[in-house]
Amino acid sequence: MTERWTTDSWRQFPAKHIPTYPDQQALADVEAQLQSYPPLVFAGEARQLRSELADVANGKAFLLQGGDCAESFAEYHPDNIRDTFRVLLQMAVALTWAGSSPVVKVGRLAGQFAKPRSSDIEEIDGTTLESYKGDIVNGMEFTPAARNPDPQRLLQAYSQAAATLNLIRAFAQGGFADLHRVHGWTQGAMKNSPAGARYQEMADRISEALAFMEACGITAQNTALLNQTNFYTSHEALLLGYEQAMTRVDSTTGDWYDTSAHMLWIGERTRQVDGAHVEFMRGIKNPIGCKVGPNMDPDELIRLIDALNPENDPGRLTLIARMGADTVGEKLPALLRRVKEEGRSVVWSCDPMHGNTIKSDSGYKTRPFDQILAEVRRFFQAHQAEGTYAGGVHFEMTGQDVTECLGGMQEITDESLADRYHTHCDPRLNGSQALELAFLIAEGIKKEREAFAQAS
Ligand code: PEP
Ligand code: CO
Repeated sequence: MTERWTTDSWRQFPAKHIPTYPDQQALADVEAQLQSYPPLVFAGEARQLRSELADVANGKAFLLQGGDCAESFAEYHPDNIRDTFRVLLQMAVALTWAGSSPVVKVGRLAGQFAKPRSSDIEEIDGTTLESYKGDIVNGMEFTPAARNPDPQRLLQAYSQAAATLNLIRAFAQGGFADLHRVHGWTQGAMKNSPAGARYQEMADRISEALAFMEACGITAQNTALLNQTNFYTSHEALLLGYEQAMTRVDSTTGDWYDTSAHMLWIGERTRQVDGAHVEFMRGIKNPIGCKVGPNMDPDELIRLIDALNPENDPGRLTLIARMGADTVGEKLPALLRRVKEEGRSVVWSCDPMHGNTIKSDSGYKTRPFDQILAEVRRFFQAHQAEGTYAGGVHFEMTGQDVTECLGGMQEITDESLADRYHTHCDPRLNGSQALELAFLIAEGIKKEREAFAQAS
């Protein structure tokens, strides 16, 4: 690793999963254009998130991060954005109410476009083309024209991210997130689902509590937190040319921030300590995440933490464990122990999606709800055994009533996967499944926070 960091120092390091564009000049022109565009988020907001994540690192709050595996240009619609935002709000309320914990809300949206793929190429009936790498890179259609990496897509991704973020800001600050509307957030298929029924009961009690508070003089008029919420954006910082173009110096501090999102993370496939992605991420001051898969060893993890959070700042680094339900109990404890022994302050979050992907009998890429839940449970158990704090969860989910993950109280079967399987990449939890999980997790958080409060 070089001493001096610049926004383009990553270019001297080996970079995995970054496509080769046929027209380099066209790419450079687009990147230059992006560099002159307005930032999508502000440094002060990223700092605010960092301080909220510091509360998580210190065991005083819980991180909820979720959204699409891959946003797409085709599914870009205000209703889809609203529905995902609404389910995230419902999950956050469930976690806050049943888990008695403040919840930091971070969407996997407004920029989650680039995907690392296990294979660079795809072959169908003797024709070989470049794999689909997310709408910011190429198109999903299996034709040479669609699969060719096209720099113009960076501009379209930027503009979709900007409009998505604008709508999210309006929802978060403009009254949609008002707790008095807590009943109204249940819509569509969720209304008749078991998780929806449980949610309605909770919403009744929240409304009673609000009425009581109002009688005591605490109203939305004098307490903005009742009708507004902080909501942040995040995505995997995979396409470094785009991230570099969005990185700006903050005039108040002189620090560099990647203004494409409040939080960025490094994926499991690009977390090499001497690679381009780690080099880029070490220089930006946003809160960042790093995926931690089953092959991570404790020494390697400490080297990564040294590179990414040398000042040991709580809230700077979120480690997102994605081990798989059958592996987490074996692999996670040694990592938790080592990070604790070395006195490193991090947020530990659980991604129970990426280690539990299977192919169903009918051929769909899916994830069993039970395995997702089992990974979260074992994640909590490992933390309890090691005396560390399980600080958050990271989900692939959508507000749409899709049938992509098996099971849950709706009992989605292999036969019904075909009904509404819409994802552009990995299978997502639907709204009812996501809410059901939030309730189950809330019970774990409540116990954990009580134990943590007693110990400290
Ligand atoms: C993802 O979060 O979509 C992803 C690709 O995960 P991972 O890097 O953990 O495989
Ligand atoms: Co995914």
